[in-house]
Amino acid sequence: MQTLHSLDPLRRAVAALRQSPDGPKTVALVPTMGALHEGHLTLVREARKQADHVVVSIFVNPLQFGANEDLDKYPRQLERDCALLEAEGVDLVWAPTVEAMYPQGFATNISVTGVSDGLCGASRPGHFDGVATVVCKLFHQVLPDVALFGEKDWQQLAVIRRMARDLDLTSPHADAVLGVATVREEDGLAMSSRNAYLTAEQRLQAVTLPMAMKVAIAGIRNGDPVAACIGHLKDALLAGGFSSVDYAELRDADSLAPLDSRGTAPMRLLVAARIGTTRLIDNMAVLPE
Ligand code: PAF
Repeated sequence: MQTLHSLDPLRRAVAALRQSPDGPKTVALVPTMGALHEGHLTLVREARKQADHVVVSIFVNPLQFGANEDLDKYPRQLERDCALLEAEGVDLVWAPTVEAMYPQGFATNISVTGVSDGLCGASRPGHFDGVATVVCKLFHQVLPDVALFGEKDWQQLAVIRRMARDLDLTSPHADAVLGVATVREEDGLAMSSRNAYLTAEQRLQAVTLPMAMKVAIAGIRNGDPVAACIGHLKDALLAGGFSSVDYAELRDADSLAPLDSRGTAPMRLLVAARIGTTRLIDNMAVLPE
């Protein structure tokens, strides 16, 4: 497994991966910010099924951090991450420096309107512009046949899908932006690097989130008013130990248009709530997929 930090060697290495005497090989990209956990490794395993070779990018992207979000404190553990990726059979780790990704004078911003608005976009202004800009660059750098993202960050996935379609980043014949189902702990809590910030008591309380979401989804499927189901969900979170609920909303799964009643197109229930200072997010399909 090679680990590369600058663009020219990366391009040469990806071109070499593609070449083989028995015909061209395919490449899957898994973009990450490192500090890898089982959720990331699930993306890598899925990527290996989707393509001949797997490239994982590790880059803590300054553009997607707000002024009040601590970029410097974000965990950086490249050696440990590379050992995990090597054990998973990854071919190439693309770990650019900030200067390699954003050379002096970098001035371009990609903004995907609509899907970036509201939900996490409301409390993190500019965040999805930062994500879209770096992911667009990663697509151009690696030129993958397929790229994989976790469904846990559903709004991020919707932003990237919209951008990939709008900017012709992937083949028009296949949706090459693949969402991979959220990996959950045994009790149902979605895996996240943020779970590590929870105290033992908060970790027990956190399970209220997936449990209350499932109850709300059962109600919506049953035809109960959406506003009442969401009201009960918020009450359950606060009663279960959460300190506040940033949002709990029913949205169209693709366009993320807000829905106030149950439809027939795929829908997602999306929630962000805080336990102490830790903000947890989760989302679930409302109808079976
Ligand atoms: O989900 C993440 O880890 C990041 O937002 C991504 C997609 C790697 C872009 O920096």
